[in-house]
Amino acid sequence: MAEHVDKIKTELERLREQVRRHDYLYYVKGEPEISDYEYDRLYRRLVELEEKHPELVTPDSPTQRVGGAPAEGFAEVRHEPPMLSLDNAYAEDEVREWDERVRKGLGADGAAYVCEAKIDGVAIALEYDDGVLARGSTRGDGFTGDDITANLKTIHDVPLRLNEAPPGRLEVRGEAYMTREGLAELNRRREAAGQPLFANPRNATAGTLKLLDPREVARRPLHAWLYYVITEEADIPTQAEALEHLARWGFSVNPNRRRCADLDEVFRFYREVEAARADLPYNIDGLVLKVDDLAAHGELGTTAKAPRWAIAYKFKAERATTTVNSIEWSVGRAGTITPVANLEPVLLGGTTVKRAGLFNPERVAELDVRAGDTVNVEKAGDIIPYIVEVEYHLRPKGSKPTPIPQKCPVCGTPLVKEEGVVGLFCRNWDCPVQARGRLGLWGSRGAMDIEGLGEKVAAVLYDKLGVRDPGDLYFIKPGSIARLEGFGELSEKNLLASIERSKGRGLTRVLFGLGIPNVGFETAALIAGHFGSSDRLMAAGKEELEGIKGIGKVVARSVVEFFARAEVREIINKLKRAGVKLEEERLAEPTGPWAGLTFVITGTLPSMSREEAHRAVEARGGKAAESVSAKTSYLVAGEKPGSKLAKAEKLGVKIVSAKEFDKMLKKAGP
Ligand code: IVH
Repeated sequence: MAEHVDKIKTELERLREQVRRHDYLYYVKGEPEISDYEYDRLYRRLVELEEKHPELVTPDSPTQRVGGAPAEGFAEVRHEPPMLSLDNAYAEDEVREWDERVRKGLGADGAAYVCEAKIDGVAIALEYDDGVLARGSTRGDGFTGDDITANLKTIHDVPLRLNEAPPGRLEVRGEAYMTREGLAELNRRREAAGQPLFANPRNATAGTLKLLDPREVARRPLHAWLYYVITEEADIPTQAEALEHLARWGFSVNPNRRRCADLDEVFRFYREVEAARADLPYNIDGLVLKVDDLAAHGELGTTAKAPRWAIAYKFKAERATTTVNSIEWSVGRAGTITPVANLEPVLLGGTTVKRAGLFNPERVAELDVRAGDTVNVEKAGDIIPYIVEVEYHLRPKGSKPTPIPQKCPVCGTPLVKEEGVVGLFCRNWDCPVQARGRLGLWGSRGAMDIEGLGEKVAAVLYDKLGVRDPGDLYFIKPGSIARLEGFGELSEKNLLASIERSKGRGLTRVLFGLGIPNVGFETAALIAGHFGSSDRLMAAGKEELEGIKGIGKVVARSVVEFFARAEVREIINKLKRAGVKLEEERLAEPTGPWAGLTFVITGTLPSMSREEAHRAVEARGGKAAESVSAKTSYLVAGEKPGSKLAKAEKLGVKIVSAKEFDKMLKKAGP
């Protein structure tokens, strides 16, 4: 038997060598030595052997290029005209100079301007055919962006169908954004899920629009303001009227706008909006001034980067000067060490600021910020103000550099740096802050939803009753909580009852509640749905996890490493003994005419977006995959197909045209 396995191993190695060499000759050198037919035979033999002996598949096998490839991403969209940026002005003088250039360019004495709030978000473009949203995209580099139609469709400010007889072909542009409160709520969810927080609404918006799963996008609080119209079929003479049209068609148009007849009016409006800025629920960083007369836009033209008919008149960043009282190091639930500066309280943008973020130890060292220093803090749209600069010349004599901790400020464990990651981490599983944090997460609403078990109570149970992990919660002795300060018989009864009720929540919430790094609720649901039970999950390897649609290498590794820990296995044992449900109904096997078939789409299809094609396949029970493998049933080749076509040809996968695909869809029924 051993001899037999050795023989297979040798053959596999030989096949891999050959395939690698021919891949190189074909793809890199462009000088194939064998025919495609001969290559196919080698490749298929390799796939066949590996399928028979999955335990012998190595990560560097040429077949793994295909199977493990990450989701490919979005189709490209060309922008015509390009989506330009704006030149900036920071002071009245600069605005006056721009106004002079405009008037000179137009040979006019004066020009009226439309002033609009400059939203701090992410630029988007929306295309409508006969009033129906056909495509939405990101700005990208201005010339080419990503087709994110499915994501943009989730935003309620983006009408799917327009009101009031719109032009046949219409493109509108604007800004996707998040409110500050929306971001705070999103960050609360992310914190509970142990995911990194977004520093400001713009980052959160950009990060969300790039997601490949529109269902997750739909859960995030995105909005959009639209401000720009491109069409040849309507006579719109001014920007002010363009905005009115947008509103009538059904778009959201920012109300902070005004047509100003001269610069004095512009400056007055600027001051008004700047004063109101802190009260707006979303961030703006200035005004955009636009020549109202649209015919004048054509006359003035653009530079390579920005239109000459518009300028961004930026607000000054909100900034204040104060002193640092101390620098404190805190430990997060996931073990991240974060420096925070305690400040002499100072008024900034309507609130009193007492603390400023310093991000990570690297930043502290780079700024060389010390207790006693005079610093400038800014709140440039970010949630927590941060220290922009240190007034080194005001530094008190004898001040010492801030020591970077070597040990966890809570448990004293030596801190570690991790390959390729900024920051320092406490990797002690028993570190009290982390353990208390995990208990709080377990009780949270998205996890086991244990009423009464918030962070504070979690800390009390940890400190006073020796509850060390979620498993211990189910073995708390009756009577012990009632004796604690601040509790009584009734509160104990309620808390124990909600702990008892939590036993039936199921595997998704258990996985989420355990605080596995990089595993939020959605990912937990995917994993639970795939494996159905904690036993099956714990027996699985990285490969099986990576094979779940929507789960990548980082998450797969995180999960495997997490369950490899003795502490985690111990928790699972306790949960089992307590009778906590560690199962979940598995996702139903798809049914339909295409059940068991896998489709890969390449290139653009004339009749639908790639997302729509994927959904059409899935609606018929088929599987839509991103990369071609020997298991692919059909490759649908649209216009400008990519390298997948060659791969499919090589593997002998059946290739169908967009037209044939349409016919197949019709035949399979709705
Ligand atoms: S007009 C050619 N109007 O600011 C038209 N832009 O810093 C250029 N922005 O790329 C855009 N609010 O993403 C315009 N009311 C507004 C805007 C706005 C925000 C963004 C836009 C632009 C960026 C330039």
